[in-house]
Amino acid sequence: MIPFDYRDGVLHAEDIALSAIADAVGTPVYVYSTAALTANYRAFAGALEGLDARVCYAMKANSNAAVLAVLAGQGAGADVVSAGEMARARLAGIPAEGIVFSGVGKTREELAAAVAEGVHQINVESLSELDMLSAVAVEAGRAVPIAIRINPDVDARTHAKITTGRKENKFGIDIDDAPAAFARARDLPGLDPVGVAVHIGSQLTELAPFREAYARVADFVRALRADGFAIDRLDLGGGIGIVYRDETPPAMDAYAAMVRETVGDLGCRLTFEPGRVLVGNAGVLLARVIHLKQGHTRRFLILDAAMNDLLRPALYEAWHAIRPVAEPPPDAEEVPCDVVGPVCETGDTFAVQRPLPPIGAGDLVAFSGAGAYGAVMSSSYNSRPPAPEVLVDGNRFAVVRKRPTLMEMVASESVPDWLGNPVSGAAPTAAGRTG
Ligand code: LLP
Repeated sequence: MIPFDYRDGVLHAEDIALSAIADAVGTPVYVYSTAALTANYRAFAGALEGLDARVCYAMKANSNAAVLAVLAGQGAGADVVSAGEMARARLAGIPAEGIVFSGVGKTREELAAAVAEGVHQINVESLSELDMLSAVAVEAGRAVPIAIRINPDVDARTHAKITTGRKENKFGIDIDDAPAAFARARDLPGLDPVGVAVHIGSQLTELAPFREAYARVADFVRALRADGFAIDRLDLGGGIGIVYRDETPPAMDAYAAMVRETVGDLGCRLTFEPGRVLVGNAGVLLARVIHLKQGHTRRFLILDAAMNDLLRPALYEAWHAIRPVAEPPPDAEEVPCDVVGPVCETGDTFAVQRPLPPIGAGDLVAFSGAGAYGAVMSSSYNSRPPAPEVLVDGNRFAVVRKRPTLMEMVASESVPDWLGNPVSGAAPTAAGRTG
């Protein structure tokens, strides 16, 4: 299915014209397609049919309550990396048994919360964390099922900032040190080491690194079993890439076939932690052009969206398609444009010398592939309210996160007594600023 497509000359999300959403909600705004979320989940889960597998959506990619509700409704569990994500998953109705708690630096409080919640599994990433979790579990009077995340030293051949499975990365326990980690876990009273976890990076566009990592995991499991460990769970992480531009990420069926080949004979219960592949193409960021500015050497399209709304281009030089909401004529001449936001940094640039059809001030544009790592990475830099989020389902839509007012944004700040009232004794109106 094509979730975002032109109809009658206007870019639509399912049956809703994006211009109607811009009129109703304002811009910038994230727009998600329920049909795309559902189709992505079904494609992923469907490819794994026949395997003993659970899909724990890596909700760091998009933790909006409505997005979670759609995926939970399809049967997704959750891969969480903070107590906050765990709470959101539970609020979305995901049972504790459907939750895997990952992350390289969980605090004692977060571990205690995960133990109290009774999550399916906690993935441990260091010796120090083994000790801390065991102590927490003993305090709670139980032994908790854990997987140890190994670092297989495989190059995921993706962007350096989202590569996680090399020796020099902070993640997991080096595969050479992992046998000792399992031995330690076995000796600790609060832990039940039942699984091996691996995640080598994000936006992988080739199957080979997955294959290499999973093959190493399989060998490692055989070695552990020979040492008497009853390993019956594997967590194979996430990382499958999507098409932003001209990438050719592995098809789900090919990925699933590779999983069967590499680990299928181990008889383990499998967990997958897909994030981007479930939500990435299910969202766009809709923005309006404020100004068209012709410089000496560059033509700038200045949008009302900025790096605080969609950080990926500034942080990773990520490429997102930019589509005018009004369909350009097929023979429209394209002109190279620098597409930028209003934030006071040169890094607030979405695209450099991007060939675009004629677009002018007041026109709407949509960034594709913004459903993953878009809204969740937004901030209020420059005191810009983070963009609201809208969910479309067929011919209806709803605001699923509103744009905060400026007063809501400053409500949690306060001025200490010794500074007195800011403006000549006048009572400020923001909550928490009076007195
Ligand atoms: N599991 C673990 C342990 C992870 O660290 C991640 C992502 C995932 C699963 C989900 O990976 P995915 O299926 O989404 O590739 N902000 C970056 C991506 C960061 C990924 C962090 N970890 C971006 O915008 O590209």
